[in-house]
Amino acid sequence: MQKMCAAITAVGGYVPEYVLNNAELEKMVDTTDEWIQTRTGILERRILKGEGMGTSDMAAEAVKQLFAKRGIGPDDIDLLICATTTPDFTFPATANVIADKMGIKNAFGFDINAACSGFLYALTTGSQFIETGKYKKVLVVGGDKMSSILNYEDRATCIIFGDGAGCVLLEPNEEGNGIIDSVLRSDGAGRVYLHQKAGGSVKPATMETVMNKEHFVYQEGQTVFKFAVKNMADVAAEIMERNNLSGDDVAWLVPHQANKRIISATADRMGLSEEKVMINIERYGNTTNGTLPLCLWEWEKKLHKGDNIVLAAFGGGFTWGATYIKWAYDTK
Ligand code: UT7
Repeated sequence: MQKMCAAITAVGGYVPEYVLNNAELEKMVDTTDEWIQTRTGILERRILKGEGMGTSDMAAEAVKQLFAKRGIGPDDIDLLICATTTPDFTFPATANVIADKMGIKNAFGFDINAACSGFLYALTTGSQFIETGKYKKVLVVGGDKMSSILNYEDRATCIIFGDGAGCVLLEPNEEGNGIIDSVLRSDGAGRVYLHQKAGGSVKPATMETVMNKEHFVYQEGQTVFKFAVKNMADVAAEIMERNNLSGDDVAWLVPHQANKRIISATADRMGLSEEKVMINIERYGNTTNGTLPLCLWEWEKKLHKGDNIVLAAFGGGFTWGATYIKWAYDTK
C-alpha cells in the first residue's frame, strides 16, 4: 500500500476588482511604465477598496468558491491555516476571522507569518496534520492586503505589490499523489533588508512612528533581489535533486511572483522552458502569501493527475523554500 499523502483536492482564489495600472502609478510617484515593466514584469495589480475590508474578506471569497467547487460546507473542515503578513488584526488570528465569516465551527485555526514563503510553510504544516490520519480536511489559505502597508510615495516598493488571496483544500490520498517533499529555510539575519519598522512590540505605534512612515514596507530591493535569485534557485534545484527529478520530469514550476527576473533565474536553474512556468505577475504583481495559490487557481484546468509540480518562494525574514507535489486530480 502507498504511504498516505496530503493531496490538494480543490483550489479557490479571489482578486479585488480595482485595477491599479502602471499609468496610474506614473501619476502618483516618479516612475514610468517602461521602468516597471522591464525591472519587474508588472503591468497592473489589484487593490482592495472599501472601509473595513481586510485580508479575511478576500480569503472568505476564495474559500466560498472552493466549497462550491468541491461540494463541501463549513462543517466538513477540521483545520484552517492562514498564511498572511497583513492580518486583519495583530490578534486574534485571521484564520479565526475567516472561519467565523464562513461559519466554520468544528475546526481550529491559526496564522503563519513567514512573509512571501508563508503559503509553503502553511501547506507543509497542513500536510503534517493530514498525515497523522486524525484530520481529513485542512484548508490552507494564503493572502495579503499589501496596499494596507505600502507607502504610495515610495516608488521602490509601491509599484511591486498588490492584494489578493487563494486557498487549497488538503485531503488524504493513498494513490501516491499529493505533497511529497518540502525544503524550508529561514535566516533571521536578513530581517534588516525587508521589514516593517514599527507596530510590533519593539516599537509600538506612536504619533512619531506614524509621522515617520514606519508602518510601511521597508525594502532594500537590490540586496533582497540577490538573496532571492540565489536561494530560490538553490532550493528548487535541491528538491529536484533529492527526488531524482530532471527538468523533463517537471510539468510546472509555481514560483513566487516577486520579480519576473527572479522567476526566470529559477526556471533556468531547473532547466525549464517558459511554457512550464506559471507567471501572472504582469496582472497581479506581488500579492505576498497570495501568489502561489493564485497561480494554482488560474492554472488548475491545465493540471493533470500525476503531474510533477515544484513550488518555490522567497521572502522577508529571510524565508525561502520549495515543495514538490504530485498533482492529484484532473479538472472536468
Ligand atoms: O517578495 C518578497 C521579496 N522581494 C523581492 O524579491 C524583491 C526583490 N527586489 C526587486 O525585485 C528589485 O530590486 C526592485 C524591483 C525592487 C528594484 O529593481 P532594481 O533593478 O534592483 O532597482 P534598484 O533598486 O537597483 O534601483 C535602480 C535605480 C535607482 O536609481 P539610481 O540610484 O540608479 O539613480 C532607483 O532609485 O532605479 C530607481 N528606481 C526607480 N526608478 C523608476 C527605483 N524604483 C523606481 C521606480 N521607477 N519605481
